[in-house]
Amino acid sequence: MMIDEQRQAILISGESGAGKTESAKMVMQYLAHRTAPLASPAKPGAKPLPKPPPGGAAEPPSAGTAPIEEQVLESNPLLEAFGNAKTVRNDNSSRFGKFVEIDFDVAGRVSGACISTYLLERSRVVSINAPERSYHIFYQLCAGASPEQRAALRLEAGAAGFRYLAASATGGAAPCFTLDNVDDAEELRSTLDAMAIVGLGEAEREAVLRTVAAVLHLGNVEFAPAPDEGAAPAGPGAAAALGAVASLLEVAEPALLTALTTRVIATAGERIVKRLSAAAAAESRDSLAKNLYARLFDWLVAAVNRKISALGGGGRGGRSIGILDIYGFESFQDNSFEQLCINLANERLQQQFNQHVFKGEQEEYAREGIDWSYVQFVDNQDCLEVLEGSAAAPALAVFPLVDEACRLPRATYQDLAHSLRTRLADRPRFSAPRRPQHSFAVEHYAGRVTYSTELLLDKNKDFTVAEHVGLLAGSGSPFVRALFAEAEAGGGEPAAAPAIGGRGRAAGSAFKLNSVGAQFRRQLQGLMGTLNQCAPHYIRCVKPNPESRPGSLAPEYVLEQLRAGGVLEAVRIACAGFPTRKAFRCARRGQASSAAPDLGLGLCRVKRWRRAGSRARRRGGPRGAQAWRVARPARRTHVIAAGRTACARSARSARAAAGRAAGGTKPRRVSGARAACRRADRPAARRAGRLCSGTTS
Ligand SMILES: Nc1ncnc2c1ncn2[C@@H]1O[C@H](COP(=O)(O)OP(=O)(O)O)[C@@H](O)[C@H]1O
Ligand SMILES: [Mg+2]
Repeated sequence: MMIDEQRQAILISGESGAGKTESAKMVMQYLAHRTAPLASPAKPGAKPLPKPPPGGAAEPPSAGTAPIEEQVLESNPLLEAFGNAKTVRNDNSSRFGKFVEIDFDVAGRVSGACISTYLLERSRVVSINAPERSYHIFYQLCAGASPEQRAALRLEAGAAGFRYLAASATGGAAPCFTLDNVDDAEELRSTLDAMAIVGLGEAEREAVLRTVAAVLHLGNVEFAPAPDEGAAPAGPGAAAALGAVASLLEVAEPALLTALTTRVIATAGERIVKRLSAAAAAESRDSLAKNLYARLFDWLVAAVNRKISALGGGGRGGRSIGILDIYGFESFQDNSFEQLCINLANERLQQQFNQHVFKGEQEEYAREGIDWSYVQFVDNQDCLEVLEGSAAAPALAVFPLVDEACRLPRATYQDLAHSLRTRLADRPRFSAPRRPQHSFAVEHYAGRVTYSTELLLDKNKDFTVAEHVGLLAGSGSPFVRALFAEAEAGGGEPAAAPAIGGRGRAAGSAFKLNSVGAQFRRQLQGLMGTLNQCAPHYIRCVKPNPESRPGSLAPEYVLEQLRAGGVLEAVRIACAGFPTRKAFRCARRGQASSAAPDLGLGLCRVKRWRRAGSRARRRGGPRGAQAWRVARPARRTHVIAAGRTACARSARSARAAAGRAAGGTKPRRVSGARAACRRADRPAARRAGRLCSGTTS
């Protein structure tokens, strides 16, 4: 990276629980420690992090004084606390995607970083399946709050007292509040330390915890039909929870109740206040809880970014390494909208891998005239077309059809299932299983997944309720006001996704409806754009056995993952082709001087020719264009010739020592330079050979 000045990206992929997040952390740790100035740990005045006394609340480190490397690393436990949860596959499953781009200064030290996150799984805040958990921070707060916090945040009942957390007890299974080998109270201290290290002050930390507690209490605000009309809190417990939410968010309790149980519909010149049924009020409450939590998460990411990118002052120049840790491919008994989005992201990454490793590299060998026998691979383009649409039929795919159903006011999941099963019936990779009813299946690169349509429509609708936003934007707490201020000013989601429709007679309705799927696809598009500007490197995590048992390897299971990810074909290409390829400009700047000085010289000449060609082209006219046409291939030819001469010279001088290696030539025709390098056993000659195999752009 320092020589090439080319943005790099490390794409970490694999099944859920395969080790992506752990690998991403190791990479970040390595980069931070490898590039940290040697003096920094022993800097005068630099204090080591205080260790909390056992069982007692420690004073968190003072906000934002840690070195930049430490701040970047500490963003991991912080975001894991708020964005990771226990699933059936992994006790610490990331429920959001993350791309951390680390910037380096001219001396190669970390100068800053920027974190982008992708689609936090919002539905987990309000509903979880047994034996899974909601986000770690909820359990950490319930287990680790100090007695004063416990009283102030009304957490006396612990995790079992909150409906959103006890929901994992469905189906007769015991609720899952704790994790093996994890002390949630200790974890809370680490989370608070991490918040302090990334620069959040005490007031902000307190405000974050109050918001987390408010989300928990919201779940306990249950509704029953009111005696007159509409909905009212169902009993004293629900009323107390409503009071707790109002106090934690610093809004008036009656105003909160009105916002949850009524809806204002603005028609031409008139505002009609409609009272909601108990079920609709519960939906409104869940919508507020999800929205509040998602905004809190986004706020945390933005706060971390403000700190870590401001410190370094570095931009997204050529000296950066991005690390992508995105949710792994998922296939459960019941798969819904979350799995559809997660698996789409994995298909896109697989496509990127195919494009770079299989298509791009083989096309380049063909362009260079190398006698190459094409390595076949499984292209997943048809799967992406079934999910997202093709240029020829953009609306005929799963995501566009779900959006279309969301636009219809009375569409049900049965209608959606019928639409998908009839309109995509003849598409490759799509099938309509007989059981379960109203489902559809997609043949992904990593296996077949059956999706239920039951909750697809609800989960794809991202409602912003104007009453909620209006109420919280006027909160007495500056923190809560800040969470909602942007939305009120913009009148919509922070993501500013265009509304795709409304509910009922939409004109001026209090609801704004965004398609979650469309937002996610736009985010993915942005991510792919960024990745395409980087030189990609891949880490494939392989899960040794499906049960996550230590010390056990299931060979068939491992082989299946290697096959599905195209790893075997990638290895075949790497063995047959060139493991490293360098552009000539990098060769000249870096190794060319030592390995093959002629390359640098040749490049200078070529540059002069190219400049002359460009000048001629700028002057215009047929002669200018002719000069350009001559200059371009001349440049290429000369570069190859220069490389060949340099390699041959190095090879000749090394031949005596390398004679014994002469038998290693591969069974294909290679250019003279490469063949010479292969026959030579001298590192310089081999280095020159690698340079010679570089792209000529
Ligand atoms: N290199 C490793 N060595 C030992 N255990 C690991 C390693 N990588 C992952 N694990 C175990 O697997 C679990 C899941 O890893 P994680 O990185 O969270 O998976 P993913 O992000 O792919 O879903 C971790 O909590 C840890 O227990
Ligand atoms: Mg993970």
